[in-house]
Amino acid sequence: MDLSRRSFLAAQGAIAGALLLPGGFLSAVEAATPPAPRLDDWKKVRAQFRLSRDFLHFAGFFIASHPEPVRAAIEGFRRALDENPFLAVEQGMFEGPAQNLQRRVCEDIALYLGGRPEDIALTGNTTMGLALVYHGLSLKPGDEVLTTVHDHVVHHEAIRLSTARNGASVRKIALFEAAASATVDGIIDRIRAAIRPATRVLGITWVHSATGIKLPIRRIADLVQEVNRGRTEADHLLLVVDGVHGIGAVDEPIAQLGCDYFAAGTHKWMFAPRGTGILWATAKNWARLTPTIPTFSDRECFNAWAQNRPVQGPTVAARVCPGGFHAYEHQWAMGAAFRMHQQIGPRRIADRIFELNDRCRRGLAAIPKLKLHTPLDRELSAGINCFEVEGHRPAAIVKALLEQRIISSTSPYAVTYARLSAGLMNTPGEVDRAVAAVKKLAS
Ligand SMILES: Cc1ncc(COP(=O)(O)O)c(C=O)c1O
Repeated sequence: MDLSRRSFLAAQGAIAGALLLPGGFLSAVEAATPPAPRLDDWKKVRAQFRLSRDFLHFAGFFIASHPEPVRAAIEGFRRALDENPFLAVEQGMFEGPAQNLQRRVCEDIALYLGGRPEDIALTGNTTMGLALVYHGLSLKPGDEVLTTVHDHVVHHEAIRLSTARNGASVRKIALFEAAASATVDGIIDRIRAAIRPATRVLGITWVHSATGIKLPIRRIADLVQEVNRGRTEADHLLLVVDGVHGIGAVDEPIAQLGCDYFAAGTHKWMFAPRGTGILWATAKNWARLTPTIPTFSDRECFNAWAQNRPVQGPTVAARVCPGGFHAYEHQWAMGAAFRMHQQIGPRRIADRIFELNDRCRRGLAAIPKLKLHTPLDRELSAGINCFEVEGHRPAAIVKALLEQRIISSTSPYAVTYARLSAGLMNTPGEVDRAVAAVKKLAS
């Protein structure tokens, strides 16, 4: 007997939905959504955002303003959900792979990541992705998680909460004395020296929101592979990356970075709907995880529950994808953001972000009494620039800039700096105005 969720619901008449929405829910929404605009110059890209023109926005990496294609996709799904909530969720989530909207979203994301749709779990943010990894790994007393002093509170807290349950230990190391003078070889040497036989996980951040430094993930992954050549499969050191300020800002295909788990919110640089994120791993690494949150995305879990038998087969991404109903108009509209990035071109985007922020860094670095904490080298920097001005607290700098309608931010860390970050919504002229305002403040 087929005890799938579909057959349960079909028996209750849910299949009528397909008749009410001919061609399926997806084609109905697609037919009502305006085509993607042309995005072949930066002016057109900037015009996609409803950002207030009364301000210069230099904290765009904090949380996204939805661009027009994403707003249109959200609106399409929202209308369908408001008109027919039951039929929309039934078709979009439970009627099989051809109609499945999470599957469609993962296909769009996979094109961007350079990996397979079935290796992506949709999450709500970076925080959720990291928690699913650290709680899902089978760590035990005697195992060690190695992380750094530079990571975000949610990364450290995911490790703390997991190890408090499983009894593994945690060690934090500094990867450099000062971010501004860090080198790739220096970072690699410090990690190499810190790895011990008991170290099972290395947890790091791609682009640091504390100092703006970008870590050489590929080189670190190569080091991890080298360590693993002398270990059994069960004892492998696993590389966990918080990639939230790299995805959408740096053009390195994520599935080829060499990390084992990649967690990122997509509601920052990717401009996907607020409250969305991804967790990526290979099939081998998904199989190492025990799911933490019940899923609605894996048929086998439902069938096993309905048949009162153990779940069969290894853990796969869908099994880790948190269930319960979500703000589906946001989750299903994620694909629009990834398609927009593909349309503009990930390389063009990364170059533009680098050029704007390089201009910002060089402008800041030339200001007397200003200390730039972000390296100038492209290998070690991306879209976030952190600095201090002698005699001014970071919060006072942010306040003074805001009085001139320039939005900047402070880094939420024990040692805090002022931050200016340029994104696709900014122009070189705006960067110059922001730098000039900082210069005036410092003089
Ligand atoms: C480095 C880093 N990791 C994680 C987060 C939390 O991101 P999310 O809201 O996607 O959980 C932030 C917040 O901005 C961050 O700067």
